[in-house]
Amino acid sequence: MSALLEVSGVSVTFDGFRAINNLSFSIGAAELRAIIGPNGAGKTTFMDIVTGKTRPDTGTVRFGERPISLLALSEAQIARAGVGRKFQRPTVFEDQSVADNLTMALKAARGPFKVLFWKETAADRARVAALAAEVGLADQLTRKSGELSHGQKQWLEIGMLLAQEPRLLLVDEPAAGMTLAEREHTTALLVEMAKTRAVVVVEHDMEFVRRLNCKVTVLHEGAVLAEGSLDHVTKNPQVIEVYLGR
Ligand SMILES: Nc1ncnc2c1ncn2[C@@H]1O[C@H](COP(=O)(O)OP(=O)(O)OP(=O)(O)O)[C@@H](O)[C@H]1O
Ligand SMILES: [Mg+2]
Repeated sequence: MSALLEVSGVSVTFDGFRAINNLSFSIGAAELRAIIGPNGAGKTTFMDIVTGKTRPDTGTVRFGERPISLLALSEAQIARAGVGRKFQRPTVFEDQSVADNLTMALKAARGPFKVLFWKETAADRARVAALAAEVGLADQLTRKSGELSHGQKQWLEIGMLLAQEPRLLLVDEPAAGMTLAEREHTTALLVEMAKTRAVVVVEHDMEFVRRLNCKVTVLHEGAVLAEGSLDHVTKNPQVIEVYLGR
């Protein structure tokens, strides 16, 4: 499988502290990957680097079938190139309906010029309905977003990200604050999304990671400590020592 994202020899130092240390790994085009590791391992910083929020001191980050360097691009350009990121705190407009939030995301995905001359078509409404269905909110379209549960808001935000049609979606700790039923729905959602795009999930909840049933990368001190199935990495004595044995 050829890589969609390839991180190679990346290091980042914050005030003399090396948060990412010669990090190298790659993600396939339609792959679901979990990243685990202790607090401060560099998981969020990895996402900051891929999305252009943090610039590495050394190394390369290449993305796409005909790879381009993400390090030369701005955050907005990286997003347009097909990298979406889900933040922990939902950024939905609470006063607007689910449909309105998805419509706004659809507009934004088309760029500023299109927003100016936007006229909603039947195709747009169908796309909004399809996005809602994809994240399990088909019956919530007219609902005010502020009335949604925590989990539903997270799914709405994922739907808004899907409007941009990202080829790589980065999701940091999606299970936090969710009920068991919401976590299970989120697992199913991520598994489904990863059938047509790459999805990278950072998560501490091991039951959640187990249900993802995918390859796991263990980060420690800014580098890959172990990689493979969850069963494989959780048997690794070093992984047990630095992470699981806490
Ligand atoms: N902008 C920054 N300035 C200074 N230090 C930073 C910055 N971003 C991250 N760090 C440091 O880099 C290290 C890695 O942090 P990071 O947030 O990537 O860890 P993490 O693996 O996401 O941890 P957690 O599981 O707690 O979310 C930490 O020691 C953190 O304090
Ligand atoms: Mg983090």
